[in-house]
Amino acid sequence: MLQVKGATKYFGGLVAVSNVDLSVGKGEIVGLIGPNGAGKTTMFNLISGNLCLDKGEINFKDNKISGLDSYQICRMGIARTFQSVKVFSHMSVLENVLLAILFGRLKSTSKADANIEAEELLEFVGLKDVSTCPAGELTMINQKRLELARAMATDPELLLLDEFMAGLTPAEVSDAMELVRSIRDRGITILMVEHVMKVIMNICERIIVFNYGEKISEGTPEEIANDENVVEIYLGEKGNNYAAN
Ligand SMILES: Nc1ncnc2c1ncn2[C@@H]1O[C@H](COP(=O)(O)OP(=O)(O)OP(=O)(O)O)[C@@H](O)[C@H]1O
Ligand SMILES: [Mg+2]
Repeated sequence: MLQVKGATKYFGGLVAVSNVDLSVGKGEIVGLIGPNGAGKTTMFNLISGNLCLDKGEINFKDNKISGLDSYQICRMGIARTFQSVKVFSHMSVLENVLLAILFGRLKSTSKADANIEAEELLEFVGLKDVSTCPAGELTMINQKRLELARAMATDPELLLLDEFMAGLTPAEVSDAMELVRSIRDRGITILMVEHVMKVIMNICERIIVFNYGEKISEGTPEEIANDENVVEIYLGEKGNNYAAN
Protein backbone atom coordinates (compact mmCIF):
# COMPACT_ATOMS: atom_id res chain seq x y z
CA MET A 1 0.00 0.00 0.00
CA LEU A 2 2.77 2.44 0.98
CA GLN A 3 6.22 2.30 -0.55
CA VAL A 4 9.04 4.62 0.45
CA LYS A 5 12.20 4.43 -1.64
CA GLY A 6 15.49 6.13 -0.77
CA ALA A 7 13.78 8.84 1.29
CA THR A 8 16.22 11.53 2.35
CA LYS A 9 15.59 14.81 4.17
CA TYR A 10 18.18 17.37 5.25
CA PHE A 11 17.75 20.18 7.74
CA GLY A 12 20.79 22.30 6.88
CA GLY A 13 23.77 20.00 7.51
CA LEU A 14 21.72 17.46 9.47
CA VAL A 15 20.41 14.37 7.69
CA ALA A 16 17.12 13.77 9.54
CA VAL A 17 16.08 10.89 7.23
CA SER A 18 18.77 9.11 5.27
CA ASN A 19 18.12 6.90 2.25
CA VAL A 20 15.21 5.03 3.90
CA ASP A 21 13.29 2.25 2.16
CA LEU A 22 10.15 1.02 3.85
CA SER A 23 6.80 -0.41 2.94
CA VAL A 24 3.46 -1.01 4.61
CA GLY A 25 1.00 -3.61 3.35
CA LYS A 26 -2.78 -3.33 3.38
CA GLY A 27 -4.28 -4.30 6.74
CA GLU A 28 -1.00 -4.24 8.67
CA ILE A 29 -0.26 -2.50 11.95
CA VAL A 30 3.39 -1.47 11.64
CA GLY A 31 5.41 0.17 14.42
CA LEU A 32 8.14 2.75 13.86
CA ILE A 33 10.50 3.09 16.81
CA GLY A 34 13.87 4.59 17.65
CA PRO A 35 15.59 7.04 19.99
CA ASN A 36 14.64 10.73 20.23
CA GLY A 37 15.68 12.59 17.11
CA ALA A 38 15.92 9.39 15.02
CA GLY A 39 13.75 10.89 12.25
CA LYS A 40 10.41 9.20 12.93
CA THR A 41 8.26 12.34 12.90
CA THR A 42 10.20 13.66 9.92
CA MET A 43 9.34 10.43 8.08
CA PHE A 44 5.65 10.99 8.88
CA ASN A 45 5.93 14.60 7.68
CA LEU A 46 7.42 13.36 4.40
CA ILE A 47 4.70 10.74 3.89
CA SER A 48 1.87 13.16 4.69
CA GLY A 49 3.34 15.95 2.56
CA ASN A 50 3.98 18.33 5.47
CA LEU A 51 7.63 18.29 4.34
CA CYS A 52 9.17 17.72 0.88
CA LEU A 53 11.74 15.02 0.20
CA ASP A 54 15.23 16.05 -0.84
CA LYS A 55 15.79 12.67 -2.49
CA GLY A 56 13.74 9.54 -3.05
CA GLU A 57 10.14 8.76 -3.83
CA ILE A 58 6.98 7.80 -1.97
CA ASN A 59 4.18 5.82 -3.59
CA PHE A 60 0.73 5.08 -2.23
CA LYS A 61 -1.38 2.44 -3.95
CA ASP A 62 0.98 2.62 -6.95
CA ASN A 63 0.60 6.39 -7.31
CA LYS A 64 3.49 8.74 -6.66
CA ILE A 65 2.54 11.04 -3.78
CA SER A 66 5.87 12.69 -3.04
CA GLY A 67 5.64 16.22 -4.42
CA LEU A 68 1.90 16.51 -3.77
CA ASP A 69 0.46 18.93 -1.21
CA SER A 70 -0.63 17.55 2.14
CA TYR A 71 -4.32 18.20 1.44
CA GLN A 72 -4.04 16.17 -1.78
CA ILE A 73 -2.34 13.28 0.03
CA CYS A 74 -5.03 13.40 2.70
CA ARG A 75 -7.77 13.20 0.07
CA MET A 76 -5.99 10.21 -1.51
CA GLY A 77 -6.44 8.32 1.76
CA ILE A 78 -3.58 9.02 4.18
CA ALA A 79 -4.50 10.66 7.48
CA ARG A 80 -2.33 11.43 10.49
CA THR A 81 -2.28 12.61 14.06
CA PHE A 82 0.44 14.87 15.46
CA GLN A 83 3.01 14.26 18.19
CA SER A 84 2.12 17.66 19.65
CA VAL A 85 -1.65 17.76 19.36
CA LYS A 86 -3.04 20.26 16.82
CA VAL A 87 -6.79 20.62 17.26
CA PHE A 88 -8.64 23.73 16.09
CA SER A 89 -9.00 24.96 19.66
CA HIS A 90 -11.62 27.69 19.13
CA MET A 91 -13.93 25.42 17.16
CA SER A 92 -16.19 22.91 18.86
CA VAL A 93 -15.29 19.23 19.02
CA LEU A 94 -18.04 18.47 16.48
CA GLU A 95 -16.89 21.26 14.12
CA ASN A 96 -13.33 19.86 14.14
CA VAL A 97 -14.66 16.54 12.86
CA LEU A 98 -17.13 18.13 10.42
CA LEU A 99 -14.31 20.12 8.87
CA ALA A 100 -12.40 16.91 8.16
CA ILE A 101 -15.46 15.23 6.63
CA LEU A 102 -16.33 18.21 4.44
CA PHE A 103 -12.81 19.19 3.29
CA GLY A 104 -10.53 16.17 3.86
CA ARG A 105 -12.21 13.76 1.44
CA LEU A 106 -12.21 13.37 -2.29
CA LYS A 107 -15.92 12.57 -2.34
CA SER A 108 -18.29 15.30 -1.25
CA THR A 109 -20.68 14.64 1.61
CA SER A 110 -23.89 16.55 2.36
CA LYS A 111 -23.97 18.63 5.54
CA ALA A 112 -26.71 16.38 6.95
CA ASP A 113 -24.76 13.17 6.30
CA ALA A 114 -21.59 14.81 7.62
CA ASN A 115 -23.37 15.59 10.89
CA ILE A 116 -24.49 11.99 11.29
CA GLU A 117 -21.02 10.64 10.52
CA ALA A 118 -19.34 13.14 12.84
CA GLU A 119 -21.63 12.12 15.71
CA GLU A 120 -20.85 8.45 15.03
CA LEU A 121 -17.11 9.07 15.03
CA LEU A 122 -17.30 11.05 18.26
CA GLU A 123 -19.18 8.17 19.84
CA PHE A 124 -16.53 5.73 18.53
CA VAL A 125 -13.68 7.66 20.20
CA GLY A 126 -15.70 8.38 23.37
CA LEU A 127 -16.29 12.12 22.91
CA LYS A 128 -20.03 12.21 22.23
CA ASP A 129 -20.84 13.96 25.51
CA VAL A 130 -18.45 16.84 24.86
CA SER A 131 -19.26 17.45 21.18
CA THR A 132 -20.28 21.09 21.74
CA CYS A 133 -17.22 22.01 23.88
CA PRO A 134 -14.46 24.18 22.41
CA ALA A 135 -11.75 21.70 21.41
CA GLY A 136 -9.08 23.66 23.28
CA GLU A 137 -10.86 23.02 26.59
CA LEU A 138 -10.57 19.23 26.35
CA THR A 139 -8.06 17.28 28.45
CA MET A 140 -4.95 16.04 26.65
CA ILE A 141 -6.27 12.48 26.21
CA ASN A 142 -9.52 13.84 24.82
CA GLN A 143 -7.68 16.17 22.41
CA LYS A 144 -5.80 13.08 21.22
CA ARG A 145 -9.10 11.24 20.79
CA LEU A 146 -10.41 14.21 18.83
CA GLU A 147 -7.36 14.16 16.54
CA LEU A 148 -8.06 10.50 15.96
CA ALA A 149 -11.72 11.17 15.14
CA ARG A 150 -10.68 14.01 12.82
CA ALA A 151 -8.17 11.77 11.04
CA MET A 152 -10.79 9.00 10.71
CA ALA A 153 -13.25 11.56 9.38
CA THR A 154 -11.19 12.00 6.21
CA ASP A 155 -12.02 8.35 5.46
CA PRO A 156 -8.40 7.14 5.30
CA GLU A 157 -7.02 3.82 4.13
CA LEU A 158 -3.72 4.47 5.92
CA LEU A 159 -3.51 6.13 9.32
CA LEU A 160 -0.26 7.51 10.73
CA LEU A 161 -0.24 7.79 14.54
CA ASP A 162 2.63 9.79 16.06
CA GLU A 163 3.03 8.94 19.76
CA PHE A 164 -0.67 8.60 20.39
CA MET A 165 -0.02 6.93 23.76
CA ALA A 166 2.52 9.45 25.09
CA GLY A 167 1.54 10.92 28.46
CA LEU A 168 -1.38 8.56 29.04
CA THR A 169 -1.92 6.66 32.30
CA PRO A 170 -1.66 2.83 32.12
CA ALA A 171 -5.47 2.54 32.14
CA GLU A 172 -5.74 5.11 29.35
CA VAL A 173 -3.07 3.24 27.37
CA SER A 174 -5.14 0.03 27.57
CA ASP A 175 -8.23 1.88 26.30
CA ALA A 176 -6.20 3.52 23.53
CA MET A 177 -4.80 0.13 22.46
CA GLU A 178 -8.34 -1.21 22.12
CA LEU A 179 -9.24 1.86 20.08
CA VAL A 180 -6.30 1.31 17.71
CA ARG A 181 -7.22 -2.36 17.28
CA SER A 182 -10.82 -1.47 16.52
CA ILE A 183 -9.66 1.03 13.89
CA ARG A 184 -7.69 -1.72 12.20
CA ASP A 185 -10.78 -3.95 12.42
CA ARG A 186 -12.57 -1.29 10.36
CA GLY A 187 -10.09 -2.08 7.57
CA ILE A 188 -7.70 0.82 8.13
CA THR A 189 -3.96 0.16 7.82
CA ILE A 190 -1.86 1.70 10.59
CA LEU A 191 1.72 2.95 10.82
CA MET A 192 2.45 4.07 14.37
CA VAL A 193 5.35 5.81 16.07
CA GLU A 194 5.44 4.95 19.74
CA HIS A 195 7.86 4.95 22.66
CA VAL A 196 5.52 2.87 24.86
CA MET A 197 7.04 -0.55 24.17
CA LYS A 198 4.17 -2.47 25.71
CA VAL A 199 1.96 -1.04 22.97
CA ILE A 200 4.38 -1.64 20.12
CA MET A 201 5.15 -5.19 21.18
CA ASN A 202 1.49 -6.09 21.71
CA ILE A 203 -0.21 -4.40 18.80
CA CYS A 204 2.25 -4.39 15.90
CA GLU A 205 2.80 -7.27 13.52
CA ARG A 206 5.99 -5.69 12.21
CA ILE A 207 8.37 -3.11 13.61
CA ILE A 208 10.79 -0.78 11.80
CA VAL A 209 13.66 0.78 13.78
CA PHE A 210 15.30 4.14 13.01
CA ASN A 211 18.52 5.55 14.42
CA TYR A 212 20.13 8.81 13.29
CA GLY A 213 17.82 8.98 10.29
CA GLU A 214 18.60 5.47 9.05
CA LYS A 215 16.53 2.32 9.11
CA ILE A 216 18.67 -0.01 11.22
CA SER A 217 16.35 -2.98 11.67
CA GLU A 218 12.97 -4.42 10.73
CA GLY A 219 11.10 -7.52 11.84
CA THR A 220 8.46 -9.09 14.05
CA PRO A 221 8.24 -7.87 17.68
CA GLU A 222 10.13 -10.99 18.75
CA GLU A 223 12.88 -10.46 16.19
CA ILE A 224 13.26 -6.81 17.23
CA ALA A 225 13.33 -7.65 20.95
CA ASN A 226 16.13 -10.13 20.21
CA ASP A 227 18.11 -7.82 17.90
CA GLU A 228 21.28 -7.04 19.87
CA ASN A 229 21.89 -3.81 18.00
CA VAL A 230 18.36 -2.51 18.73
CA VAL A 231 18.61 -3.60 22.38
CA GLU A 232 21.89 -1.72 22.75
CA ILE A 233 20.76 1.43 20.94
CA TYR A 234 17.18 1.72 22.11
CA LEU A 235 15.46 -1.00 24.09
CA GLY A 236 18.15 -1.55 26.76
CA GLU A 237 17.44 -4.24 29.31
CA LYS A 238 13.73 -3.89 28.58
CA GLY A 239 14.43 -5.66 25.31
CA ASN A 240 15.28 -8.83 27.22
CA ASN A 241 11.94 -8.65 29.03
CA TYR A 242 10.07 -8.36 25.75
CA ALA A 243 12.09 -11.24 24.28
CA ALA A 244 11.23 -13.37 27.34
CA ASN A 245 7.53 -12.57 26.96
N1 LIG B 1 11.83 21.54 11.12
C1 LIG B 1 13.05 21.17 11.54
N2 LIG B 1 14.12 21.98 11.37
C2 LIG B 1 15.35 21.59 11.76
N3 LIG B 1 15.63 20.40 12.32
C3 LIG B 1 14.60 19.56 12.52
C4 LIG B 1 13.27 19.89 12.13
N4 LIG B 1 12.45 18.85 12.44
C5 LIG B 1 13.23 17.91 12.99
N5 LIG B 1 14.52 18.33 13.03
C6 LIG B 1 15.69 17.55 13.52
O1 LIG B 1 15.68 16.33 12.77
C7 LIG B 1 16.03 15.23 13.59
C8 LIG B 1 14.88 14.22 13.56
O2 LIG B 1 13.77 14.78 14.27
P1 LIG B 1 12.40 14.01 14.41
O3 LIG B 1 11.46 14.97 15.06
O4 LIG B 1 12.01 13.45 13.12
O5 LIG B 1 12.79 12.84 15.42
P2 LIG B 1 11.86 11.76 16.14
O6 LIG B 1 12.43 10.43 15.81
O7 LIG B 1 10.44 12.01 15.83
O8 LIG B 1 12.17 12.07 17.69
P3 LIG B 1 11.18 12.01 18.98
O9 LIG B 1 11.14 10.56 19.39
O10 LIG B 1 11.89 12.86 19.99
O11 LIG B 1 9.86 12.57 18.58
C9 LIG B 1 16.30 15.81 14.99
O12 LIG B 1 17.70 16.01 15.09
C10 LIG B 1 15.56 17.13 14.97
O13 LIG B 1 16.16 18.06 15.83
MG1 LIG C 1 8.81 12.52 16.90
